[in-house]
Amino acid sequence: MLLWNAKWIKTMVRLFTVVMICNFAVCTFAGCGGKEEGGEEKQEAQPTKEEESTPTPIPTSTPAPTEPAKEVRTDFYISSLDEEIPSMCEYWKDYFSIGIAITKGELLNDFKGELIVQQFNSMTCGNEMKPDALLDREATKSTGTETCPVLKFDSCDEMLAFCVDNNIKMRGHTLIWHSQTPDWFFMEGYSNKPDAVFASREVMLERMENYIRLVMEYVNTTYPGVVYAWDVVNEAIAPGDGGENGMRMSDSLWYQTIGPDFVEKAFEYARKYAAPEQKLFYNDFNTYETAKRIAILELVNKIKDQGNIDGIGMQSHIGMNSPTLLDYEETIRKFGETGLEIQITELDINLDSNSEEDFMKEGTRYKRLFFTFKNLVDTGAANITNITVWGLTDEGSWLNKDGKRYPLLFNQVLETKPAFWGVLMDEGIPLY
Ligand code: XIL
Repeated sequence: MLLWNAKWIKTMVRLFTVVMICNFAVCTFAGCGGKEEGGEEKQEAQPTKEEESTPTPIPTSTPAPTEPAKEVRTDFYISSLDEEIPSMCEYWKDYFSIGIAITKGELLNDFKGELIVQQFNSMTCGNEMKPDALLDREATKSTGTETCPVLKFDSCDEMLAFCVDNNIKMRGHTLIWHSQTPDWFFMEGYSNKPDAVFASREVMLERMENYIRLVMEYVNTTYPGVVYAWDVVNEAIAPGDGGENGMRMSDSLWYQTIGPDFVEKAFEYARKYAAPEQKLFYNDFNTYETAKRIAILELVNKIKDQGNIDGIGMQSHIGMNSPTLLDYEETIRKFGETGLEIQITELDINLDSNSEEDFMKEGTRYKRLFFTFKNLVDTGAANITNITVWGLTDEGSWLNKDGKRYPLLFNQVLETKPAFWGVLMDEGIPLY
C-alpha cells in the first residue's frame, strides 16, 4: 500500500511536471498513460560478440525497413517507475559494462537508486571522490608535517557501500587533476593566504605519492574489489597552453610545481599501490582533436613503455553534430592501436532543444555511437571495456546550468527518451 501511494504521488508529480514544462506533445503524454495503444514491449535481441561483424565504414544510405511498421516501437517515453524496461547493462553484457556518473544525493533517492541498479553495472562518483572532496585541510595542517595529507571519505562512503550492496563496480574518479583540487594543497605549510608560495617539487612528489596511497589503501581495504579502474590523471593535455609536449600548464598547479613528468610519476605511484586487478587510466576530453590526440598518444605510449598504464578514457562530452562520427571513430581506432583498453568515461550529448524531432535525432546519434562501439569491438579494432554516461536525467546533468539541456537517456520524471532506445539499438530509432 505504501508502495502504491509512493507511485501514485510520483505519477502526480510527473504529470504536473510534464504539463508545466510543456516538454512533450500531448500525444507523447497520452502514449505513456495508454501503453496498450502503441507501447507493446518487444523483446530486444542481445548482441553477442560471435555475431558476424558489420563492416566499416558505416553505410551512408538509410537501409530499407525490413520489419512491418506495426512491430517497430513508436512510443519512446516509458515511465521506468511504472513499467518494466529492458536493461542496458544486460543488453550489452557481452561487450562492455554500462556505467553511470551520479552524485550521492541522486543515488540515495529510492526511485533513482532502483533504476540505476537495473540499468548499470559500473558507477562513477560525479564529485565525491575528487581531491576537493577527500582532502581535509584542518586535519592535514594539524599533523605539522609537509608531506602527508589527511583524507576523509564521508563524501563517497555511502556510494561505495551502495556498489557493494548492489554488485556494481566503480571507476575511481579522479586522483590527479588540475581542477577540483584546492590551491592550498600545492602551497608551503598548506597555506591558503594570498601570499602563499608553492611547495618544492620534492615535497609535491611526496604529497602526490601519499595522496594516491591513502586513497587506494582506504578504498581497497574498506571496499575490496569494488573499484576496477582508476582515472589516475585527468585532463593533463591542452596543446597550445604552453606546456612541454602539448601539456596543460597555465591552470595546472601539478605542472607548475612538479614539472612535465608529473603524469609519469602519478602513474608510477598508482601502479605501486593499486590492487593487481585494478586498471589505470589516463582520461581526457576532446580527445578527437588532432593535436590533442597526438599529444595524448605520445604521453600514454611513454607510460605504457614504463608498464604503468592500462587504458585511455575518452570523456566524450560531445555535441549533436560535432565531432563527426568519423573523427570520433578514427580516434578510437588510433587509441586502440596502442593495445590499451578504451573506456568512454563521460558520455553526454549537449542537445539544447526538447522538440520531439530533436529527441529522435539525439536517439539516432546515441544509436550510431553504440553501433560504432560494437563494430570496433567486433572487428578487434579497439578493446572497449566500458561506456559511462555522465548523469541519469537531463535535469541532473552538469551541462544543465541554464535548464535547457537534454543530453542524457532519461527525462526528469524518469521516463526513457529516444536516446535510451538508441543505446538499446531499438529498431524504432533510425540509424541515419
Ligand atoms: C563535473 C561535475 O559533473 C560537476 O558537478 C562539477 O561541478 C564539475 O565537474 N570532466 C570530468 C568530470 O572529468 O569530473 C567533470 O565533472 C566533467 C568534465
